[in-house]
Amino acid sequence: MNIQESIQKRRSVRTYTGQSLKREHITALKQFISQLPPFHNIKARIEHLSVFSGEKPIKLGTYGKISGAKDFIVLIYENIPFAEAAAAYQFEQVILFCTELGLATCWLGAAFNSNDFKKHVQLNKNETLKIVSPVGYPAEKQRFLERLVRVDKIHNSRKPFGELFFYQNFDTPLTEETAGIYFIPLSMVRLAPSGHNKQEWRIIKNDNVFHFYKNPCSPFDNIDIGIALCHFIETCKEINVQIKLEFLTDYPISNNLQYMVSCIVG
Ligand SMILES: Cc1cc2nc3c(=O)[nH]c(=O)nc-3n(C[C@H](O)[C@H](O)[C@H](O)COP(=O)(O)O)c2cc1C
Repeated sequence: MNIQESIQKRRSVRTYTGQSLKREHITALKQFISQLPPFHNIKARIEHLSVFSGEKPIKLGTYGKISGAKDFIVLIYENIPFAEAAAAYQFEQVILFCTELGLATCWLGAAFNSNDFKKHVQLNKNETLKIVSPVGYPAEKQRFLERLVRVDKIHNSRKPFGELFFYQNFDTPLTEETAGIYFIPLSMVRLAPSGHNKQEWRIIKNDNVFHFYKNPCSPFDNIDIGIALCHFIETCKEINVQIKLEFLTDYPISNNLQYMVSCIVG
């Protein structure tokens, strides 16, 4: 998979044709999910559900802007530390694979009826289901509601590089020069989807260490960090830079942001 290409191509699609996924797409999707490695030793459960899974059509309710979706991928993870971010990392890998196949997706944390989905995935007591995504064929014409909220404008409205990434401390914005070869992986983080497009992750580069911070008040803080880590680490891999994940005790402190984890080169 060409990660940079998929990251640049991916966007949230909310209007689908109403056509079910073709068999070859279901097979490719299931195969990709089954071979997906754990992230930081944590394996998420990612299930494919179709409205036509059973003998009779099942109800998989979505709200508002989402229309015409017949297939979904569902993210399930255990309630253990870091599992939410690790699961989001793996779910974004699946989203990017779908993008590569030419399939449309949209992370959903709110606009779906979670009880409908929970009925069909046998959720254990220690598991959480809070994210799904439709997966299917994008309708050529956006539905009125999707046009009304001007999703294309939202997709393109990313914060400037220097407001998201910093050099050694939060007072010094990172530039293309100080980012060096990491300008591309960080530019891929900038394109990451996030809840309400808030982009509440911040990164400090300190030599070969990248400290990741989140806004703990954001409802999707851990999920957004998992997606950002996916874009950063997978793009680094693509340019032959290997990353190790570490939870450090010594990092620059911020008044309103919470330190999450560090990516160490090599
Ligand atoms: C954790 C998470 C939850 C989201 N929940 C919803 C949702 O409930 N409804 C929706 O329409 N979009 C949802 N989105 C999509 C974001 O609004 C979208 O990613 C963001 O606006 C950027 O646009 P883009 O994905 O086209 O780049 C969610 C995204 C993430 C990462």
